[in-house]
Amino acid sequence: MENKDQDKRNYLEVVARSTKVIIILIVIIVVLFMVGITGWPKMKEHKTPDIKPNEKTKEATIENNFWKAPDTSEINSENNAEQITYGRALVRNTSYYFGPKGKIAALGNGMNCQNCHLDAGTRLFGNNFAAVASTYPKFRDRSGTKETILKRVSDCFERSLNGKAPDTSCKEMQAILAYIKWLGRDVRKDEKPEGSGIKQLAYLDRAADPEKGKITYQEKCQRCHGADGQGQMADESSFKYPPLWGKNSYNIGAGLYRLSRFAGYVKYNMPQGATFEEPQLTDEQAWDLAAFVNSQDRPYMDLSKDWPKIAGKPVDHPFGPYADKFSERQHKYGPYSEMVKK
Ligand code: HEC
Ligand code: HEC
Repeated sequence: MENKDQDKRNYLEVVARSTKVIIILIVIIVVLFMVGITGWPKMKEHKTPDIKPNEKTKEATIENNFWKAPDTSEINSENNAEQITYGRALVRNTSYYFGPKGKIAALGNGMNCQNCHLDAGTRLFGNNFAAVASTYPKFRDRSGTKETILKRVSDCFERSLNGKAPDTSCKEMQAILAYIKWLGRDVRKDEKPEGSGIKQLAYLDRAADPEKGKITYQEKCQRCHGADGQGQMADESSFKYPPLWGKNSYNIGAGLYRLSRFAGYVKYNMPQGATFEEPQLTDEQAWDLAAFVNSQDRPYMDLSKDWPKIAGKPVDHPFGPYADKFSERQHKYGPYSEMVKK
């Protein structure tokens, strides 16, 4: 009897010990697995908070993690090289072809696509075309339809260039299309590479302030864009410094008329010389500048057909009606943080 009990105890002890060993083994395996997957992200974060990367590593990080446009020297090896080259010229010197004295037709306000899509749509967070070929055709709430690339280009002719769009079948539109497709050739379908388009800034917890923006404008923008915001001509057909408001500027239906687009654009690109790597404005300055510039007069556009579903309006679309209870003023200037909280 006693022997039997002893055996049972021994047996239970062995079971208990091996269960412990098995549990420990499982824990070890799980931990190793997690390390393999995540590479200790938290530890890395805690170890290197204050170390500023030197210029070289910073460049290397940007090189590895952000979109880079294909080199223009590679255009020549494409079957439609001539078309792509023409498309690039149209983006850079739009006014020469389509400005008020345009060689092909007078359709636009004298601005070039490149005034806003910097370096012919290739600059990191310079409103580039990195994700256009990969994400269009796509459904857009503004029109309530699935838009092609050329529908989107036509929108910029009508709004940003405050003009008329050339027929989408014409040689010029097809060339712009070819160029945009070429630029995005290395981006996989549906992907938006890091650094594409305009960078979204964090919302302020106050409304953007046109008065403060005016002071920053005088300090940092006026010397090029002018006290009256009209810019400066380079010659009779193109701007040296494009206008920011007034009759030659983008109209109220344009992307830049939304504060978030304007703020994100100027933060990483203006004053001229600023870049994503070396910005010269704080977020607050960028938002306040957006408020100041976009409270000046500019061309009108009938927007009654936009946003067929009002619930799809972006928070900073400045014209009602809205699906929420916030005023037009708050939609225009913010504060946005309480509006986007769901
Ligand atoms: C006044 C500034 C301005 C000008 C000039 C301008 N655009 Fe735009 N464009 C914008 C803004 C702002 C957007 C919206 C970007 C966003 O929402 O992030 C945009 C969007 C686009 C898009 C869609 C980008 C995307 O990733 O979805 C295309 C394509 C485009 N523009 C082409 C052109 C072409 C071609 C021209 C010249 C005919 C032109 N634009 C002129 C400001 C401008
Ligand atoms: C040294 C001259 C210079 C200064 C200073 C400068 N800009 Fe610009 N800005 C330019 C030029 C040049 C372009 C067109 C870029 C191109 O075509 O490559 C431009 C383009 C723009 C555009 C897009 C095109 C348009 O006209 O709508 C905006 C918006 C803009 N600047 C805002 C600002 C703001 C805001 C400031 C002040 C923070 C500023 N800029 C300071 C030279 C300047």
